[in-house]
Amino acid sequence: MDELYNIDQAMEIDRTEVAANYKNHINPSMVKMLQLMNFDKNFVKADNVTVTDEKGKEYLDFLGGYGSLNMGHNRKEIIEAVHKVRERPNLLQASLGGIYSAAAHNLAQVAPGDLEISFFGNSGTEAVEGAIKLSRIATGKEKIIYCKDSFHGKSYGSLSITGREKYQKYFNPLLPATESIPFGDIPALKEKLNSSENIASVILEPIQGEGGVVVPPNGYLKEVRELCDKHGVLMILDEIQTGLGRTGEMFACNHENVVPDIMCLAKSMGGGIEPVGAYITKPEIWNKAYGSMEKALLHTSTFGGNARASAAVIASLNYIIKKELSREAEEKGKYFLDKLKSFEDEYKLVKEVRGKGLLIGIEFNQPDPGIFDQLSGGLVSKFSAEYLGAMVAGTLNNDYQIITAYTLNNPNVIRLEPPLTVSYEQIDYVINSLNQIFQNNSGLFNLTMKSASTAIKNFFQ
Ligand SMILES: Cc1ncc(COP(=O)(O)O)c(C=O)c1O
Repeated sequence: MDELYNIDQAMEIDRTEVAANYKNHINPSMVKMLQLMNFDKNFVKADNVTVTDEKGKEYLDFLGGYGSLNMGHNRKEIIEAVHKVRERPNLLQASLGGIYSAAAHNLAQVAPGDLEISFFGNSGTEAVEGAIKLSRIATGKEKIIYCKDSFHGKSYGSLSITGREKYQKYFNPLLPATESIPFGDIPALKEKLNSSENIASVILEPIQGEGGVVVPPNGYLKEVRELCDKHGVLMILDEIQTGLGRTGEMFACNHENVVPDIMCLAKSMGGGIEPVGAYITKPEIWNKAYGSMEKALLHTSTFGGNARASAAVIASLNYIIKKELSREAEEKGKYFLDKLKSFEDEYKLVKEVRGKGLLIGIEFNQPDPGIFDQLSGGLVSKFSAEYLGAMVAGTLNNDYQIITAYTLNNPNVIRLEPPLTVSYEQIDYVINSLNQIFQNNSGLFNLTMKSASTAIKNFFQ
């Protein structure tokens, strides 16, 4: 047995050892992937939008924990709230939790309409699992309708309704009675709802985050709501990425005054400090499902509602409201989006810029690789088809110290979702950096070629 690290040693561990630990104990391929683009850095400090490496070099985090950092890194108010409850029992399921009760109360106050009863778990996928189970038990029906290119998580239930084959195909058989329709397509939904009496719920994201930041047509959610009502089918909204101020409203469904039957939340709910996922629903739905002593404990989670996580939820919701982060997201998002939109006409590489609030995606056209492809035997084209977003993200990271990433279901899109506390100056820096990268299109290919000669070959081996 190797000697065990203590926490002080773990905090001082050098990069070679980190990579070795990942190779030996976590995910060897991930080491390769991050090193390929030179993404991996030794970050030792994080504060709001800025993370700092061991040499004191500062980076702007415009990835924002995939939407988990709406109030920025290490927000003092959240850490203090968690610290305040440190002497309370964090886990004591034999008794009702006071802090949990307050967090659930607060969530019901900010949630739209009559969404009042919630279940707290530990991640987004767990919130979705709870929601689809709830829809089946409450309706006594089986089918779940979901959207193509959706992303709801990677545990079995959520994966079964995540519309990308790449993630599903190795894990069959998935959950039965799940059927997909195109996102934003009302006629397809009508047809599906007319086709069966056995549909429990329709699940969708108000804006598809991992699908490439896809904003549906105006009025789409309202029409989905009306159709679900007409057919007696529950509407589940996955606001895990769009919720808690991100799109310029507390929840994205507020833009259309739509109240779902079940809403899923996670990510920023724990303030970027504690892992929390939750669904919230209407009392009559919850009562139909679990409203008896016999059924009360059918869906539970050991860590769900623990005192520290609940304290983080309380502090997060208060912070979002007190600092008016939804309004901040709306105003800054509009400023950011307007400026980025002008790139669509200016640069061939930029296919489309889209989003709402501070959830923004830039989709790229595949560039003409020309000479580079000849040199690399077609590898540059092959690489850029799947990793163009990653190449831009790599350039932003290494040349401009800006952290972003591509979207999981559409690698031709990079996402910009900084903390809602980002400054205009920081937004301007990102706009100017992107402008430079697009102006110097060949710079992007220089970068590719730097990697292409060795790394791309490794990658396809
Ligand atoms: C819309 C949406 N739903 C669900 C999830 C899954 O959340 P988690 O990774 O916490 O399980 C994500 C994660 O990106 C998401 O964006």
